[in-house]
Amino acid sequence: MDIRPLHKDFGLEVLDCDLRRLDQDNRFAVLRELFEHHSLLLFRGQPLDDEEHLALGRRFGPLEDREADRPEAKMTFVSNETQAGVFTAGDWQLKQLQSNFLWHTDSTFLPVPALANLLQARVVPSAGGETEFLSSRAGWRDLDPKLREAIKDRFLWHSYAHSRGKIDEDLAKRELISKWPPQCWRAVITNPVTGEESLYIASHAYAIEGMEDEAGARLIEEVMAAISQPEGIYSHRWRPGDLLIWDERAILHRGRPWPYEEPRSLSSICVSLQDRDGLAEMRLPA
Ligand code: OGA
Ligand code: MN
Repeated sequence: MDIRPLHKDFGLEVLDCDLRRLDQDNRFAVLRELFEHHSLLLFRGQPLDDEEHLALGRRFGPLEDREADRPEAKMTFVSNETQAGVFTAGDWQLKQLQSNFLWHTDSTFLPVPALANLLQARVVPSAGGETEFLSSRAGWRDLDPKLREAIKDRFLWHSYAHSRGKIDEDLAKRELISKWPPQCWRAVITNPVTGEESLYIASHAYAIEGMEDEAGARLIEEVMAAISQPEGIYSHRWRPGDLLIWDERAILHRGRPWPYEEPRSLSSICVSLQDRDGLAEMRLPA
């Protein structure tokens, strides 16, 4: 497999790799190692069908099930397409997609957050609609010493309703969103394979355990602003058949706007964290 860097801090494009043929030469073990070290992997021209996409996800761990009552929910469509056309301004589903424009880590609001997202482009718009990434490892490494000291031994509270409430209060009140109670995770986590530390923060983070609400929220904002500087960003311009896999423990991402009258559709599979990925150490001790 040939590789080439996507950004000086993180990310690789993997060339000459057919994601349907990973049994050859122990290829998955190689990919998993690249994932642990480089946090974001790009594969172009991989038109996986749903079953192949799901099978790839299962190699990383258990598939996330956001709505246990919907068997197909392991595959999520990040899409503005409807049977009649596309969602339009005011539709809550469009607002939900626009909530992804805030820097975030997926699923920090779930009782078991995500290890990885495997996102594949199906339909891309003529302009815009990029997905942007930054390294929360580099962000932690380069963080101002005062902020490092302030956040290093902290635990952050995360809530889905919090990030959706920044976009629209009614969106935050929908059952789909409000049913998830807040979760608390260590602010700085360690990758058990590489020993590298990263910030674990997201648009969902709203308070810091043991700190007064406003002071906690302010610190979260300061850290977010410090780590999301333009030079740290890799912006991905999608082509159909592109597949990106990222490590939710070490990456923040966000979507970008596009002309909403055009369809944009990606298929997404999240894989849940396990203790071998560092999950137990991320929890607030009882
Ligand atoms: C996601 C996400 C952003 C985008 O799928 O988790 O945040 O660009 N997507 O659609
Ligand atoms: Mn996301």
